[in-house]
Formats: sequence, C-alpha cells, structure tokens
Amino acid sequence: MKRVAFCTFGCRLNQYDTEAMRTLLMDEGEYRTVPLTDEADVYVVNTCSVTNAADASARKMVRRIHAERPDARIVVTGCYAQRAPQELAALPGVSLVLGAADRPRAAREIERTRPGEVRVSVSPIAEANVFHEVSITEMMEHSRAFVKVQEGCNESCSFCIVPATRGASRSRRPENVLAQVRELVAGGYTEVVVTGVHVGDFGLDLPERRRLLPRLIRDILRVRGLDRFRLSSIEPSTVTDDLIQLAAGEEKFARHFHVPMQSGSDAVLSRMRRRYTASEFAALVHRIAERVPDCGIGTDVIAGFPGETDEDFQRTFDQLAETPLTYAHAFTYSRRPGSAAAEYGGEIPGDVSRRRTSALRKLSHDKNRAFRERLVGGVERVVLEGKRHPERARLFGLTGNFVKVDLGPGTSQRTMVRARVVSVTDDGLAGEVVS
Ligand code: F3S
Repeated sequence: MKRVAFCTFGCRLNQYDTEAMRTLLMDEGEYRTVPLTDEADVYVVNTCSVTNAADASARKMVRRIHAERPDARIVVTGCYAQRAPQELAALPGVSLVLGAADRPRAAREIERTRPGEVRVSVSPIAEANVFHEVSITEMMEHSRAFVKVQEGCNESCSFCIVPATRGASRSRRPENVLAQVRELVAGGYTEVVVTGVHVGDFGLDLPERRRLLPRLIRDILRVRGLDRFRLSSIEPSTVTDDLIQLAAGEEKFARHFHVPMQSGSDAVLSRMRRRYTASEFAALVHRIAERVPDCGIGTDVIAGFPGETDEDFQRTFDQLAETPLTYAHAFTYSRRPGSAAAEYGGEIPGDVSRRRTSALRKLSHDKNRAFRERLVGGVERVVLEGKRHPERARLFGLTGNFVKVDLGPGTSQRTMVRARVVSVTDDGLAGEVVS
C-alpha cells in the first residue's frame, strides 16, 4: 500500500477539497494516509492563491518536501495550480499538477506519472458545470465538520481570482447535502459548518432556479442528533431577512455571520465591483445585531486597494468602528495576475497599505475584546475541540458566536457542554463547565 500525506493551504473549501481527494484515493484501496511529518510515497499539496504570500507558502512547502524526501512524488493541486500550472510544474520535485476539475481522476493521474517525469493535468475550469459529488464521513483534523454545498462564483469582483480558479457557481443536490450531514452526525460530529464560494447562490443553478439556502438550512436543522449548525462566509447581498430570522429563532443555528465588507468607501466598492454600498452594508450589520442577540458578526476588509485614498481608508476604518461588527480579517491588497484590478493604476505604496492593515487589525482586536467582555458572567454552549485528540488534558471549545473558550484542565466524553464565562483571555474567553 502506498503512503500518501496531505498539506492544505487556504480556506475551509480547500480543507474540504483535501478531504474529498483523500476519500477518493482511499476508495481506490491502494493508499493509506500518513501525517505530513512522516515518510510518504506521495505528497499532495493543496494550494491557495489568494495573495502573493499564499503562492510563496505553497512553493516553500514543495521545496521543503523535495529537500526532505527527494524520491517521493509531489502532486500539486488547488487554486494556485489552476491559476499558474506551469509555474508549479517548474519547481524541482513536482511530479503532477492537477486542476480542480481533474481531481476525480487523481489516482489514475498519479499512477501514470513516471519517476523523473512532470505531468500537467489541468482542464479549463470554465467547462466545469456540475458539482462533483464526494461523500466525506470524516474530517481528519477538525472536531467540527465542514460540508461544501456549492462551488464556484458568478460574480466578477475586480480583486479576486477565485472565479478563474473554481469556475462558475454550481450547487450540490440538497438530498446529497442532507445525506452527508446525517452521515457526519452519525459519525459523532456535533457541529456542521456549511461552506461554499458563494453559498447565498445555492439553488440558482438547480431545476428550481431560485435561492434555496434558507430551505436547505431548515432541513439541516431538523437532522436528528445535530447540535449546532453554522454558516460560513456569505455575501452581504444574499443575507435575507428570512435567514436572519432563522438565526434568531433556532437555538441550533450558531449566532454567527461572516459577511465580507471589503471597504467602507463607495468609490472603492464600485471599483471592486461589489454589489452594495457602504450604507447598505452598515444597515445589514445593524439589522443582524438587533435581531440576533450577542451575535458574532465578522467581516473581511482589504487595505491598499489601487487608488484607495486616505479618505477612502478613513471611511473603511470608521465603518468598522461604528458598526456592531465583532471582528475583521484585514488583508493587505495583493495584485492577482488575471484579475481586473491587476490592470488598474493607482498602486498604493507597500508601507502605506501595511500601516492601514495594522490599524484595521488593531481596531478589530479592540472591538473583539469589548465583545468578549460583554459575554463574561453569561452561560454559553461550547462545542469542544479535540474530538480526535481525546488524550488532551485541557478542554477547549468554541461558542456559537465564534469565540474560543479555555475550560481549564480536564477531559470530557461529551462534545458539547454548557460553560459559564469567567473572564476574557488574550484571544478568547476562560470559562467553567456547568452541569
Ligand atoms: Fe480558498 Fe485560497 Fe482558493 S482562499 S478559494 S483556496 S484562492
């Protein structure tokens, strides 16, 4: 049996894709998974290409694997592989570059790779028009299970290369999503996180031809044994009142929304080709906070987009400061070859972009701390981490509103507990289990 090790960069979708690929290889019956630190015959590096830094991390990992295991075959897949296959094929040690739509043939492609040969198997992603179904029963490294319900994106945000790496929007059949959730719950997962590139578009390409996410969530919430449902990042234009109402009314629905804002300046939003204005975004965040008490509301923000003036940046800063957002992931703009913004003028000097990013991160940190302080004294339902590491002598977990909780020394047979929040820590909360 051949040993295969996986390394994943990037978002939850990529983590899911790695598991899908692992499942496919295991189903072939000729592979067994080993940890990345072990000696393997095949290493699969699932890359991200969201920034230059993400590309560099993937290249570094390939070089490291090759230096440590010169005889192993290295397979590179993911968004970077789809965007620039030849760049990766040129790296020493790479045997196979595999496109997103080519992964179902992974085992065959690996077999066809001869020692010393480099194969590039990357089909045009624009031709992918169906959701590739793989039933995953185990997430190797997580206590919470991610379920991909949708792939690809039909938007054309000017900074983003994801439509070029993942193709057009396509939805998974709802009955397959539900079967997947049931299987994961039967396998002991307590929390299910629904993910997609543009989950709000779920259903638009199905025969029903309309947005079906709220209906899908209602069905998932009815799955017996499921303790918590969480929605991952969702585009603001698709957060409907129906969805907010569901989050407000269903105890199992984690009080957590992640809605990318990107900028608080209408001029920048327009050049980014986002489908909302700053005030529409602010109104949405207020609506969520008013209707869903103690909701964790997160966002993504880009600093240093081409042409971003000091005033534009100040608007972003103020919008983050003034709306009830509880955290922000701030990124420095990174020029992505192939995206529309890559051709824009008005590049912002690196030190200015970095200063702006730091200011947003500091603000996010302060806002999140203030949010956590509000939770002290209350009782939260906490899904425990480390289901796969029962030997761990300390209990950690995650609240519905997306805060890490340190529950101190101890072990538990349960996967969800109720905990009284005692204090805030550097990056989360400290609490104690209540019976
Ligand atoms: Fe995810 Fe990175 Fe691709 S964030 S969609 S793996 S570019």
